[in-house]
Amino acid sequence: MKNIALIAAATSLIVAGSMPAHAAPDAEQIFSKKCSMCHKIDSKKVGPAVKDMNRDPAVLRKTISEGRKMMPKFGAKLSAEEIDALVAFIQSKQPEETANPCAKNPCGQ
Ligand code: HEC
Repeated sequence: MKNIALIAAATSLIVAGSMPAHAAPDAEQIFSKKCSMCHKIDSKKVGPAVKDMNRDPAVLRKTISEGRKMMPKFGAKLSAEEIDALVAFIQSKQPEETANPCAKNPCGQ
């Protein structure tokens, strides 16, 4: 019984730890409805992983609104505010590699 409680506690910690920190709520919802079939946060799917996307917000905005190769264009489907929120959402998922070396591989674990 004690073990089960421990596992439950550990699982809820993992779930809480993987929750997005400060993403705009609507961007997350748009992403899961319109982007997640092709993009995952941490690994490549049809398109690149969000964490590996270009870090230039102008490139992100342009690709989302105008499309590129297999990437559909969303300029007519999403408002400028929604696209901005998606850009911010993508940036919030990109680890600060130089500033925080523990972001990818948590130190001391
Ligand atoms: C039908 C699949 C598909 C959907 C849906 C899709 N994408 Fe993409 N996306 C791709 C592919 C494939 C690429 C790579 C394009 C290339 O090869 O140049 C890409 C590229 C991108 C890039 C450029 C990354 C970089 O590093 O320059 C961004 C940003 C992006 N997608 C964001 C989004 C967002 C935000 C959504 C939802 C609104 C979305 N995508 C929906 C397939 C998709």
